[in-house]
Amino acid sequence: MLAAMRLLLTGVLCHLLLLLFIFPSSEAYDSLDPNGNVTVKWDILSWTPDGYLAVVTIFNFQQYRHIQAPGWMLGWTWAKKEVIWGMMGGQTTDQGDCSRFKGNIPHCCKKNPTVVDLMPGTPYNQQIANCCKGGVISSWVQDPANAASSFQVSVGSAGTSNKTVRLPKNFTLKAPGPGYTCGPAKIVRPTKFVSADGRRVTQALMTWNVTCTYSQFLAQKTPSCCVSLSSFYNDTIVNCPTCTCGCQDIITDSSSCVRAGSPHLASVVPGKTDNTPFVQCTSHMCPIRVHWHVKLNYKEYWRVKITITNFNYLMNYTQWNLVVQHPNFDNLTQIFSFNYKSLSPYAGFNDTAMLWGVKFYNDLLMHAGPYGNVQSELLFRKDKSTFTFEKGWAFPRRIYFNGDNCVMPPPDAYPWLPNSVPRQIAPPGILSLISALCPVLFLLAFI
Ligand SMILES: *[C@@H]1O[C@H](CO)[C@@H](O)[C@H](O)[C@H]1NC(C)=O
Ligand SMILES: *[C@@H]1O[C@H](CO)[C@@H](O)[C@H](O)[C@H]1NC(C)=O
Ligand SMILES: *[C@@H]1O[C@H](CO)[C@@H](O)[C@H](O)[C@H]1NC(C)=O
Ligand SMILES: *[C@@H]1O[C@H](CO)[C@@H](O)[C@H](O)[C@H]1NC(C)=O
Ligand SMILES: *[C@@H]1O[C@H](CO)[C@@H](O)[C@H](O)[C@H]1NC(C)=O
Ligand SMILES: *[C@@H]1O[C@H](CO)[C@@H](O)[C@H](O)[C@H]1NC(C)=O
Ligand SMILES: *[C@@H]1O[C@H](CO)[C@@H](O)[C@H](O)[C@H]1NC(C)=O
Ligand SMILES: *[C@@H]1O[C@H](CO)[C@@H](O)[C@H](O)[C@H]1NC(C)=O
Repeated sequence: MLAAMRLLLTGVLCHLLLLLFIFPSSEAYDSLDPNGNVTVKWDILSWTPDGYLAVVTIFNFQQYRHIQAPGWMLGWTWAKKEVIWGMMGGQTTDQGDCSRFKGNIPHCCKKNPTVVDLMPGTPYNQQIANCCKGGVISSWVQDPANAASSFQVSVGSAGTSNKTVRLPKNFTLKAPGPGYTCGPAKIVRPTKFVSADGRRVTQALMTWNVTCTYSQFLAQKTPSCCVSLSSFYNDTIVNCPTCTCGCQDIITDSSSCVRAGSPHLASVVPGKTDNTPFVQCTSHMCPIRVHWHVKLNYKEYWRVKITITNFNYLMNYTQWNLVVQHPNFDNLTQIFSFNYKSLSPYAGFNDTAMLWGVKFYNDLLMHAGPYGNVQSELLFRKDKSTFTFEKGWAFPRRIYFNGDNCVMPPPDAYPWLPNSVPRQIAPPGILSLISALCPVLFLLAFI
């Protein structure tokens, strides 16, 4: 009896552990960008009679996750009764109650202000360097020069020396939605600024950093992207799994989506309200589909065509990016019409690549319609010891669009090689084997 219960318990434990290994994306960090973070740095430039003047900079140290429109919102809670006298290159969303002030009225009196970026085209006298991009920040790999955003804040009713100043608390970052968790502010070595001609170095009077990390689990996103597959050796096109991102509302007919070429379309596109349908009617209802086609087989090489299709009528994806994991990326020979960088999340593993559009050519993935797609071809050099068209080896292991996981078809649906027996040792087979042996292995290890 006791032995049976122990077996049951170890079985359950073992499966929980197994789950953790299979679904790493539900963890609080991204296994393809383990060091990715957003760092918010406050540099105090001068002390004022009742506080200080600081420049706050948000650095996006994430390899591929960028911050797209409508942009970031940064919030915090003041430690004492601080107010914001003025800002440049940014603004708070809500002034709050400043009735205790006479004469000069502060920019914001809230205990927990929320700051947003200003829009492009802001008058020069309200700008500072790296501001005014509507809160949009590039990913680190794609455009490091635009991977930061700054604003200046003049704080009153605050400490006026590094002994009396109190660090703000409870930082929050929406970029644009939820998903980021910020740690506490930490005093770090003061930032050094080098003048434009490189002949003089100045330094902040005091600096603190806050680090925020992303979790897809916290973002609680329903899938927004799926993968379809095809190959030259089999006519079957394996579509995205049905209802990946939603289901068509059959009862009220097409009210949940827009039929391609519908006259209704003209009225949909301009005004965005929350309940209007915005995706083209498909079986998967995803705004983005990535298609991977195994196109050609040469003696030494093989060729893949990737097509990204936008089914969203309300969204132009600017500076889109794709992260693809496939074992042959260690020997990518040529890529056409996309930019490419190998990501090595762990030393020795370069099976992961980031792909993105060429500036002014295809870096804009246009809204749904005749121009709503971008494509590229990849040429891989075969490594004779691993290359095979069997068991779905030629298909990607994992794809992200703009940092969000794209749902793959189940492995047993992949196109087969003609005359090949459907895999008996495909991933599901291995998993069920491990799963079945799980309690035994566990017991062997501990008894
Ligand atoms: C944030 O990212 C930067 C750049 O990759 C890295 O140097 C730093 O250690 C990271 N910070 C944390 C707390 O992980
Ligand atoms: C505060 O400033 C003094 C010099 O004015 C310096 O010696 C000290 O290290 C500073 N402390 C911090 C925490 O920056
Ligand atoms: C900061 O957040 C913690 C936990 O969310 C909460 O308990 C605390 O009251 C917050 N502090 C302030 C000053 O809002
Ligand atoms: C603070 O942030 C800046 C900018 O991201 C970085 O250069 C610096 O190394 C960070 N300091 C610490 C101690 O993390
Ligand atoms: C996308 O961009 C094109 C060209 O700049 C523009 O005509 C179109 O209105 C935009 N669509 C949306 C949904 O913003
Ligand atoms: C993969 O890594 C190996 C060894 O680190 C390197 O020689 C090779 O160029 C890398 N491949 C790509 C495509 O970056
Ligand atoms: C790339 O392929 C060539 C030829 O098969 C092989 O010699 C080389 O080791 C491969 N490079 C890597 C990084 O696997
Ligand atoms: C192509 O693959 C499908 C599985 O997706 C399979 O059912 C079919 O039999 C294959 N066709 C050929 C000719 O092997």
